[in-house]
Amino acid sequence: MPNTLCDSHGRCITYLRLAVTDRCNLRCTYCMPKGCLTSKSELLDYDELLRVVRIFAGLGIGKIRLTGGEPFARKGFVDFLAEIKEVPGIKEIGITTNGTLCFNDIQRLKASGVTGLNFSLDTLSPARYKKITGADLFHEAFASIMEAVFLGIRVKVNVVVLDNDNCDELLHLAGLADDYPVEVRFIEPMHFNGSGEFTPPQWNAARLKAFFLENLPGCVELLKKHDSTAQLFKVKNYLGIVGIIAGHSRSFCASCNKVRLTPQGVLKNCLYDNGVLDMKGLLRSGADDGEIIVAIQNAVTAKSADGSIVEKDRRDRMPRSMATIGG
Ligand code: 5AD
Ligand code: SF4
Repeated sequence: MPNTLCDSHGRCITYLRLAVTDRCNLRCTYCMPKGCLTSKSELLDYDELLRVVRIFAGLGIGKIRLTGGEPFARKGFVDFLAEIKEVPGIKEIGITTNGTLCFNDIQRLKASGVTGLNFSLDTLSPARYKKITGADLFHEAFASIMEAVFLGIRVKVNVVVLDNDNCDELLHLAGLADDYPVEVRFIEPMHFNGSGEFTPPQWNAARLKAFFLENLPGCVELLKKHDSTAQLFKVKNYLGIVGIIAGHSRSFCASCNKVRLTPQGVLKNCLYDNGVLDMKGLLRSGADDGEIIVAIQNAVTAKSADGSIVEKDRRDRMPRSMATIGG
């Protein structure tokens, strides 16, 4: 069986982001759509998802990230993780979560082979948290982050920088990396906010970088890892690390090593494309593994060099959100 998945620009794909649901118990202003979500029968079931993971692992994918919506909002998610762990070739399992539903599962996650947890947390103020997410669940989210740190799981904290909501908290939020061994990543908002409207951020990556270099004493930029989407900064005496992700003014396409599967079972080469392969249709048509592998290889070969090219070519102009794409 072939064991590499490379595109026509010489990039090899080793990382699959798998969205298990588009549902979420929060309604973050920059993310969730108001419209209807995918019904359960339209989602890939766990057996189908596991087959997808096995096929991709056979093609050299070693890292899986489970996303949503909120993955813990889907019943049976923790049991599913334990099955992924058993798939030969899968070396890293990450989850992106809002942390509000998983406190009691975190101990089990470690045993299920989860190597990293990325938490979304945009503020340290419970009142603001409620304003941004629509839910009074700051303490639940924060407790999960602390539990994961306490249990020695690799933790990243994702902060979407919002010009009007949290840009006065940047130093406090960066301070999480002072107190705990976590990577705090400041993310430029992208236009996947479900509304169809978007204003480029004033607090863009360049401004964030200048701000941190000036305001965090002993802050130095680290050399970028080849396939990393974040610019990382070490700060003197911090236990953790500070990062910036230029989601909007991105410059990391040349080293992109990932593909995504949306909650609806569509394979995407890029956040900005319309989907390059209907995996669900293929799985449910009775295709065998060999046929699916060929279809995946053909789809990935055509991965575009740069997201901005794909963005310009986009056929549909429908508002889409991170939750429906898979974050
Ligand atoms: N722009 C930037 N980041 C976003 N996220 C969700 N929607 C957006 C958006 N429109 C973030 C979440 C989560 C990560 C997967 O993506 O906060 O941490
Ligand atoms: Fe990869 Fe597309 Fe993101 Fe660029 S924009 S890094 S190609 S997913």
